[in-house]
Parts: sequence; structure tokens; C-alpha cells
Amino acid sequence: MTCWLCVLSLPLLLLPAAPPPAGGCPARCECTAQTRAVACTRRRLTAVPEGIPAETRLLELSRNRIRCLNPGDLTALPALEELDLSENAIAHVEPGAFANLPRLRVLRLRGNQLKLIPPGVFTRLDNLTLLDLSENKLVILLDYTFQDLHSLRRLEVGDNDLVFISRRAFAGLLALEELTLERCNLTALSGESLGHLRGLGALRLRHLAIATLEDQNFRRLPGLLHLEIDNWPLLEEVAAGSLRGLNLTSLSVTHTNITAVPAAALRHQAHLTCLNLSHNPISTVPRGSFRDLVRLRELHLAGALLAVVEPQAFLGLRQIRLLNLSNNLLSTLEESTFHSVNTLETLRVDGNPLACDCRLLWIVQRRKTLNFDGRLPACATPAEVRGDALRNLPDSVLFEYFVCRKPKIRERRLQRVTATAGEDIRFLCRAEGEPAPTVAWVTPQHRPVTATSAGRARVLPGGTLEIQDAQAAGQRHLHVRGQQRGRQRHPAANRTPGEAHNETLAALRAPLDLTTILVSTAMGCITFLGVVLFCFVLLFVWSRGRGQHKNNFSVEYSFRKVDGPAAAAGQGGARKFNMKMI
Ligand SMILES: *[C@@H]1O[C@H](CO)[C@@H](O)[C@H](O)[C@H]1NC(C)=O
Ligand SMILES: *[C@@H]1O[C@H](CO)[C@@H](O)[C@H](O)[C@H]1NC(C)=O
Ligand SMILES: *[C@@H]1O[C@H](CO)[C@@H](O)[C@H](O)[C@H]1NC(C)=O
Ligand SMILES: *[C@@H]1O[C@H](CO)[C@@H](O)[C@H](O)[C@H]1NC(C)=O
Ligand SMILES: *[C@@H]1O[C@H](CO)[C@@H](O)[C@H](O)[C@H]1NC(C)=O
Ligand SMILES: *[C@@H]1O[C@H](CO)[C@@H](O)[C@H](O)[C@H]1NC(C)=O
Ligand SMILES: *[C@@H]1O[C@H](CO)[C@@H](O)[C@H](O)[C@H]1NC(C)=O
Repeated sequence: MTCWLCVLSLPLLLLPAAPPPAGGCPARCECTAQTRAVACTRRRLTAVPEGIPAETRLLELSRNRIRCLNPGDLTALPALEELDLSENAIAHVEPGAFANLPRLRVLRLRGNQLKLIPPGVFTRLDNLTLLDLSENKLVILLDYTFQDLHSLRRLEVGDNDLVFISRRAFAGLLALEELTLERCNLTALSGESLGHLRGLGALRLRHLAIATLEDQNFRRLPGLLHLEIDNWPLLEEVAAGSLRGLNLTSLSVTHTNITAVPAAALRHQAHLTCLNLSHNPISTVPRGSFRDLVRLRELHLAGALLAVVEPQAFLGLRQIRLLNLSNNLLSTLEESTFHSVNTLETLRVDGNPLACDCRLLWIVQRRKTLNFDGRLPACATPAEVRGDALRNLPDSVLFEYFVCRKPKIRERRLQRVTATAGEDIRFLCRAEGEPAPTVAWVTPQHRPVTATSAGRARVLPGGTLEIQDAQAAGQRHLHVRGQQRGRQRHPAANRTPGEAHNETLAALRAPLDLTTILVSTAMGCITFLGVVLFCFVLLFVWSRGRGQHKNNFSVEYSFRKVDGPAAAAGQGGARKFNMKMI
């Protein structure tokens, strides 16, 4: 086997190499006079060969079997600028091993067996700009390891077994611009050790088992422009203060376990131009999540679990050019989500179960000018156009599917509910419209009742209100009122966020039922570009009938039809029903 390998390497040795330079060429190496390069890659060398010409600028010793580097192994090479020792078996480097290489700019030690770098190994490498220590077995970086590397701009220490970075390990790295920490066993980041990197512009932290980002982490990195956090499976939250002190241009938090947009942490990052939050289990983008990011041009939230992008979710993004929401669970993306869609140039919404109805009309209208990055969004519903790309739909189809229908409450009739002690009571609220209206219920304390609300009341899928465990020996007065909000304007009617806001204000000024306002405002429904239908419980009063052992409910159930804020101001005729159930 070994011999076979020898034979393989022989022809290489016999190749007519470039004429040897004046100083001769070491055995088993190839020397190129013009570039002053000496290449000894894959020559099964167990030590640095002898006879390297003194004028050598580039020395390639990668993929050999060198185990140890001692002072004197690399004899004086005053002209050497690049040294590649990658993929050897180097386990020990003695202090002073690189002491005679004053012009060295690039040193590659990737793919060796280094466990520890003793202080003094990198002394006198004043001109070094790139040091690659990745794919070794480093467990710890000691204080002052890199102390003399005043010119170092890029340091690679990825793929090690690092468990600890000493507090002063990075001392002296004043020119460092880029640092990559990747695939190592660090469980925490020390703000103090990173704080020595005053010139750091880019920090990449990939494949780490760190569970938290703390306030101190990046505090002393005023020059940091690019921060990348990728593949941190244990990270579940980006704490509000974790980006404090930073003034970032690009931020990437991807492949982590965060479930929410880190809105609080993003506050004050007013110079951010690119944000990548892809591949996180984020399901909702709440209103105003990116409020302060006034210069953001690119937002990536691809491959998340996004099902809802709330109205005004992108409020404040005045300069957004590229929005990447591909491969999510979105059924729609409304125009009201944006600060303004006019800046948008590239939109990726492919790979979502899109419902082709009037809410997507704004995309259809821009389908000839928007750049879909070659991935056309397609309809998932209605069935007649399933799989059809939004861009290619003929006009006839547009009139058929991209028109809204006002919502209506179905079966507007009194609901009689009889219950015995311990039973659950259900109030139905069925509505129809195009697109399908949303049904919401609100408690007497003006809190929305959701599918996950604690307490006895909850909303079932489909909009039914369920009140669990009817009490015995009591009388329950229940006032139920349904409200319906429609939209008569053509869906394409452009509405700026300012207008929407004004509408809210107008509604607040109008002398109408306080509950309606609070509820509408709280639910963000006043500005909901689409059609929303409310049913809400206004009052839920207990009055204990003393000595009465009957299940006795008094229910007031009324509907109020509202077509806009003006109508809401008292013109909607309310129909009320009072009843008693025994
Ligand atoms: C670094 O390189 C420059 C030329 O690029 C040279 O003048 C200088 O002497 C070198 N530094 C040291 C410490 O040798
Ligand atoms: C680092 O983690 C890897 C995988 O989890 C493990 O095999 C290795 O032993 C760890 N190294 C140290 C120094 O803890
Ligand atoms: C991610 O978070 C979920 C709960 O939110 C947890 O069940 C899961 O184990 C976490 N994944 C990892 C890799 O920690
Ligand atoms: C933030 O960085 C921008 C350039 O990206 C700069 O113009 C601005 O002054 C910086 N702000 C602060 C507070 O340092
Ligand atoms: C965003 O992050 C993902 C995952 O790391 C990556 O694949 C993608 O290229 C990034 N996008 C940009 C624009 O950097
Ligand atoms: C959108 O995100 C996906 C997944 O990260 C990525 O592959 C694609 O390149 C992105 N598209 C653009 C235009 O950035
Ligand atoms: C909001 O209303 C005020 C007066 O009530 C008006 O001056 C302003 O122009 C309106 N803004 C928008 C964006 O419509």
C-alpha cells in the first residue's frame, strides 16, 4: 500500500519543474523562481525540509506529516510572506518557532492537532495579518497568546474544542477586523475578552452551544458592523439589552431556537441595513417589531414558522427593498403590513400556502415590476387556481378571485343555552365573507379571549365562545353583543399608515361606546386591511341568588352593525334580546 502511494508521487517528482532558483530547491519540493514559491504539498514530509532558499516568499507545507515545530526548524527566511502548514499533525509548537519570519503576513495552521498554544509562539510576527487556527484541538486560549500580533486583521479559531477563552486572550489584537468562532464547546461568551478587540468589524459565531446572550456580551465593540449568530440550537431568546452599545450594519440570527422577533433588542439599531432572522421557529411578526430600523433595506425571515404577519408589522421600515419570507406558513401578506410598499423591489413569498383573494391584490398589481428572485409565488387556495403563479393569472381570474366580499354574521338569532351545574356553555358566532372574517371575543375587562386564555372562557377554533363549568346555585347574567366591521372601499384603495392612524384617532375622539374603542384599539382592528368581525362579551356579572338552587341565566345578546368609525359612533342600530333561561 505504501509503495503504491510512492509510485503515485514519483511522476510528480519527475515532472520537469521550473528551473531551480539560485539557492537550490529542497528535495521533494517544487520551486518557482518567478513567484519565489516553494511547494511541498503532500510529500509525506515529517519535518520542515532543509535547503529552503532564503528569498522564498511563499512556502507550502500543507498535507504532510509534520508533528512538531521547534525554533530553528524554519531557518531565517527574511522574505517569507505566506506559510501554509495546514493539514499536518502538528501537536506542539515551541515558543520562538516563527521568530525568524519578520515579513510573514499569512500563517495557516488549520487542520492540525494543537491543543494548547504556549505564550510566546507568535512573538515577533508584527506583520501577520491572517492567522488560521481552525480545525485543531484547542481547548483553551491563554492570556496574551496573540499579544504581539498588532497587525492581525483576521483570526480563524473555528472547529476547535474550545471550552474557555481567557479574559486577556485577545489582548493586543488591536487591528483585528474579523473573528470567527465556530463549532467549539464554549458555553458562554465573555464580554471582557471580546472587549479587547477594539477594531473588530465582523464577528461570526457559528455552531455554538451557548444558551444566552447577556447584556455585557458586545458592550465594548463600538466598531462592530456585522454580527452573525448562526446555529445556536440552545438559544431561545435574544435579551433586550444584548445588543446594547452596538451600532450594527448587518445582523444575522439564524438557525436558533428563538420563537419571537427580538424587537426589544433591535431597538436603537437605526443604522442596520440587513437583518437575517431566517430559520428560527418564529410564528408571528407583531406590529411595530422593527420600528426603529429606519435604514433597513433587506429583511430575511425565510424558512421560519411564520403564520401571521400582523398589520403594521413592518412599520418604520421606510427603505425596505428586499423582503424574503419564503418557505413559511403564510396564507396572506397584506399591504397594511408595510410602512409603504413603494420602496419594495424584491419579494420572496414562495413556499407559502397563499390564499389568492383581495388581500394579495397589491402583489398582483405589481407583478410585472416586482422582482420575485425567480421564485414566483403561487396560490394554494381557492382550489380553482391552486398551483397557479400569481404573476401569470389572466385578468378574468383576477376579477373573480381578487375581490372582497363583506362579512356577514350567519344565523343572527338568539341563542338559547341551557346548562346544568358543571357543564360547559357555548355561544356560536359564525360569519362569512371573502376573505374569511376573523372572530374575536373580549372579556368585560376588555381583554381579548383567545384559544389559550386562562380562566373559564375560551374561544374555540371557528369562533365559538366556550364558558366552562357552569356554576350551581347561582345566577349568571350574561350580556353578549356581536359587532361586525366591514370595509366598503375597494381593496386596492391605497391607504397609507398615516391615514390608518388618523382613523384610529378619529375613532377615539368620537363619542362612542368606550368598550368598542378599547377593544378595537387593543385588537389593532381599526387599521386591519381586510375584514374583521367581532363578537364580544361586554358584561359578565355574577349575582348570587341566595337560597336559589337553580341554574338561571340572564342573557342579553345584541348585534350592532358597523361599517366604519362614523357608523360606530352611534348610528349602527343595535338589536337587543333579553332572555332568561331556566
Ligand atoms: C513588515 O513589512 C514591511 C514591508 O511590508 C517591512 O518594511 C517591515 O520591516 C516589516 N516589519 C518587520 C517587523 O519586519
Ligand atoms: C466538545 O464537544 C464535542 C461534541 O459535543 C465532544 O466530542 C468533545 O469531547 C468536546 N470537547 C471538550 C474539550 O469538551
Ligand atoms: C427548542 O425549544 C423547544 C421549546 O421551545 C424545546 O422543546 C426544544 O428542545 C428546544 N430545542 C433545543 C435544541 O434546545
Ligand atoms: C453608527 O454608525 C453610522 C455608520 O454606519 C454612523 O454614521 C453613526 O454616527 C454611528 N452612530 C453612533 C452613535 O456611533
Ligand atoms: C440568512 O441566513 C441563512 C442561514 O444562515 C443563509 O442561508 C442566508 O444566506 C442568509 N441570507 C443572507 C442574505 O445573508
Ligand atoms: C431568501 O432566503 C433563502 C433561504 O435563506 C435564500 O436561499 C435565498 O437566497 C434568499 N433570497 C434572497 C433574494 O435573498
Ligand atoms: C391626519 O389628520 C390631520 C388632521 O386631523 C391632518 O393634518 C394630517 O394630514 C392627517 N395625516 C394623514 C397622513 O392623513
